Amino acid sequence: MIDINQKRIAMLREGRIWFYEPGLPELLARGLARKRITFTASYPAGLSRARFVFVCVPTPTTSEGTLDDSYLRSAFSNIRQYTNAPRPVIVNKSTVPVGTGDVVAHLFEGEDIHVVSNPEFLAEGRAVEDFFHPSRIVIGSRNRIAGEAVAALYAPLRAPVVHTDPVTAEFSKLAANAFLATKVSFANVLSRIGESVGADGEGVAKALSLDPRIGAGHLRAGLGFGGSCLPKDLAAIEQLARRFTDSSGLFGAVASVNRAQRARVVDLLHERFGAIAGRRVAVLGATFKANTDDLRESPALALACQLAELHADVVVYDPVAAPQLRVVAPALHIARSALAAVRGADVTIVATEWPEFAAIDLAAMRRAMSGSLLVDGRGLFDVASAHRAGLDYFSFSTAGIRDCPAEEQLPAVAS
Ligand code: UDX
Repeated sequence: MIDINQKRIAMLREGRIWFYEPGLPELLARGLARKRITFTASYPAGLSRARFVFVCVPTPTTSEGTLDDSYLRSAFSNIRQYTNAPRPVIVNKSTVPVGTGDVVAHLFEGEDIHVVSNPEFLAEGRAVEDFFHPSRIVIGSRNRIAGEAVAALYAPLRAPVVHTDPVTAEFSKLAANAFLATKVSFANVLSRIGESVGADGEGVAKALSLDPRIGAGHLRAGLGFGGSCLPKDLAAIEQLARRFTDSSGLFGAVASVNRAQRARVVDLLHERFGAIAGRRVAVLGATFKANTDDLRESPALALACQLAELHADVVVYDPVAAPQLRVVAPALHIARSALAAVRGADVTIVATEWPEFAAIDLAAMRRAMSGSLLVDGRGLFDVASAHRAGLDYFSFSTAGIRDCPAEEQLPAVAS
């Protein structure tokens, strides 16, 4: 494994990982113990005798909203310089602008090197599980033998394989993430309509999820989607749609619904408190979802920062991301526990669905707070328990029934 960052190579050699990903430290320890993996910062050392080279470099979004492929280009030019005969197959896993695979393949023209596009579909927090149990492997190659050689590497995983060309493989990655983002925004709009017509958003999502054509994933209403993939890929597909179709509005609407979810919380606080300035706000969770320490494009962090800008006294607690938070948001107060964060709070906002939040004793939370408003931004609690604890409860998925216990809504059924 090659990385240009010497510090990281040193950590990996000692079996240490600088980010939170369940199961990964154990997997690394096993690989090291069995001497199946070694680490180097040197391209020539790492590439010698390689038959396949997987490229997994970041492609962050630039300030203009395009993908920055400079790490990718640098990796490819190093590979070109340091590989020897027999030439390896180069497998690109990085998310790239559609068409990149073919563009970089030109770098190797006439050199008997094949570039195969093999997008990565694993989700953070479940990366190890997703890697070993992928729903599909997509392989985009202009050369049948190279494509089949890559497929053979994955054969033990027994996953369906889609063989296609590089452009289609790259586009399928954008399309999958754009669809997941669309599902989340769709669920969020449903929950808003449900709020007005008196339908329970969770019940609607459950009914939808049992239809195999719709599927169960990404239908949880809440603070919206974030992370390093969905927002970035949505923006990339929107640009393509704007350039080549008259239908970019579809993706623009998905993004704007997503932003509106956060704005709803700010509006709710304005409605309840008048001025937000000076109010003590506890935010539980800072990462973009549970089981990761990733703060990139996190709706939770964006909301906390927005409230701090409105001069609220914001205290954040996150089970794993405190060290990163101190770096990216030094102005926020960071608590050591959920209960410490809610102490004296006028309002508590559950912003990330960490399992430890679902286990919080709501009565103890209420006693520790000075106010009573609980904004359940990730649908962790039910309205009845929150009310029993004396909390004034707002949730995106049950807002429509918040003042009416669920049993009272059921029509009588003759037995
Ligand atoms: C995503 C894709 O799932 C994965 O296939 C791809 O390889 C990378 O991008 P990831 O970014 O790790 O993975 O997160 P994901 O689990 O998809 O969640 C994205 C965001 O949507 C999170 O902020 C999450 O909180 C939110 N979300 C997800 C919802 O709001 N509701 C849901 O029902 C599901």
